[in-house]
Amino acid sequence: MTKFSENFLWGGATAANQCEGAWNVDGRGPAMTDVTTGGSVKAHRMVTYIDKDGNPGAMAKMKGGKLPEGAKYAVLDGYYYPNHDGIDFYHRYKEDIALFAEMGFKTFRMSISWSRLYPNGDETEPNQKGIEFYRNVFTELRKHNIEPLVTIWHFDTPLYLEEHYGGWTNRKLIEFFGRFARTCFTEFKGLVKYWLTFNEINNTVMFLELFGNKATDEDYQKAYQTLHYQFVASAHAVKIGHEIDPENKIGCMICGITYYPGSPDPNDILKNRDMWEKGIYYCGDVQCKGKYPTFAQRLWNEHNVKLDITEQDLIDLKEGKVDMYTFSYYMSTMLTTHEVKEKVSGNFSAGAKNPYLTYSDWGWALDPKGLRYYLEMIYDRYELPLMVVENGLGAYDTVEEDGSIHDPYRIDYFREHIKEMGIAVEHGVDLIGFTPWGCIDLVSAGTGEMRKRYGFIYVDKDDEGKGTFNRSRKDSFYWYKKVIASNGTDLD
Ligand code: BG6
Repeated sequence: MTKFSENFLWGGATAANQCEGAWNVDGRGPAMTDVTTGGSVKAHRMVTYIDKDGNPGAMAKMKGGKLPEGAKYAVLDGYYYPNHDGIDFYHRYKEDIALFAEMGFKTFRMSISWSRLYPNGDETEPNQKGIEFYRNVFTELRKHNIEPLVTIWHFDTPLYLEEHYGGWTNRKLIEFFGRFARTCFTEFKGLVKYWLTFNEINNTVMFLELFGNKATDEDYQKAYQTLHYQFVASAHAVKIGHEIDPENKIGCMICGITYYPGSPDPNDILKNRDMWEKGIYYCGDVQCKGKYPTFAQRLWNEHNVKLDITEQDLIDLKEGKVDMYTFSYYMSTMLTTHEVKEKVSGNFSAGAKNPYLTYSDWGWALDPKGLRYYLEMIYDRYELPLMVVENGLGAYDTVEEDGSIHDPYRIDYFREHIKEMGIAVEHGVDLIGFTPWGCIDLVSAGTGEMRKRYGFIYVDKDDEGKGTFNRSRKDSFYWYKKVIASNGTDLD
């Protein structure tokens, strides 16, 4: 008997801004990633602008950098913007989908670029060229019997909304997002059934104090307000999606990190519990249970946060509960109140080093058991179908002289994670799908690098944007094909 259900959705995941390219083609408007440069594990990506006196400038947004008063985001000469051409999925999607089909994908997770449909974000009519592109992609997927799994928002609010409305700190964004979501549900009805509203919605709060950043009460105020508006926008999208097609299955998407206490000291246990609440449960509870958890007030009080929440918002949250819980899982993190001897430092990873684990070249803890822990904890809490919609190893790959790419490290990584998923399923978890991240190499979100590769499919592009963009199969391509064909039973 196989552990995974007969209809288990094996596949892979990507996001528009990291793979489409064609950033200013066919009427698409710019998003934040289009003014974000490349970086590395040591150097943060920079966001570029022209200040009020016309001078060029750059700041590290992830390090807490802010746009100076009066400045405007801008694409500047002398900088490289890796998302501009991504991996050119916009022009090569047919070839890519054929490769996914060759691996036996049952599903493919991708996102819709908001500014491809609404270049500024506040228009009343969508850009037909954008709709045409996605319709073609979904039709192509269906031709290969691949079920699209679509993220409506994957970190790409139109830049115009950031500049003219202050982004998600403005309630107006709920309306604009609602229009965008309605367009997606209407235009792609019958082609798409599985949807996710906001990618890694919890990052907004979870990353506030990462990289040694010190967040102020004002930062917390903005972050919790952003989240509230996104929760309401997500709830509206769920309601609209269900109205337009009751067949739609709409999920939340949480950045899943398994937190461990660094010692049995009760202070560490509490710190760990607090992080689960603030980082993981806060968003999951609102989106799955349709209301704020009891501990929310405590979190707001800690930073003197006063939120704009209306009675109608609370009704909407209740009526817009998601149908499934989906999440990314890359690593666990250890938390302690004690002085730390060895620290982890990588992009998107921080905290005390766990002596029982090994770490990737980017400082991410490799912890398959942490995935099982997460699956079982979350299933118990929500009892909703779960999907792991991101998981994978960002690694340096070498192309041999004959063009082959041997990536046993990636195979080992997936083997161990899939084994743990299987155990969770045996334990009763309703896991319905698995879409490894960057199933085809793409631009890293954290560092903007190409050499941080996740794919089963190699893309010939380097960190300066040079290369043929040709696709080739890595060893893991053949391995994953076998895994899918055996429904997760042949992991050798
Ligand atoms: C998640 C995002 O944070 O992790 C993806 O949803 C991202 O967009 C992925 O690419 C891996 O992170 P990175 O920094 O290695 O690209």
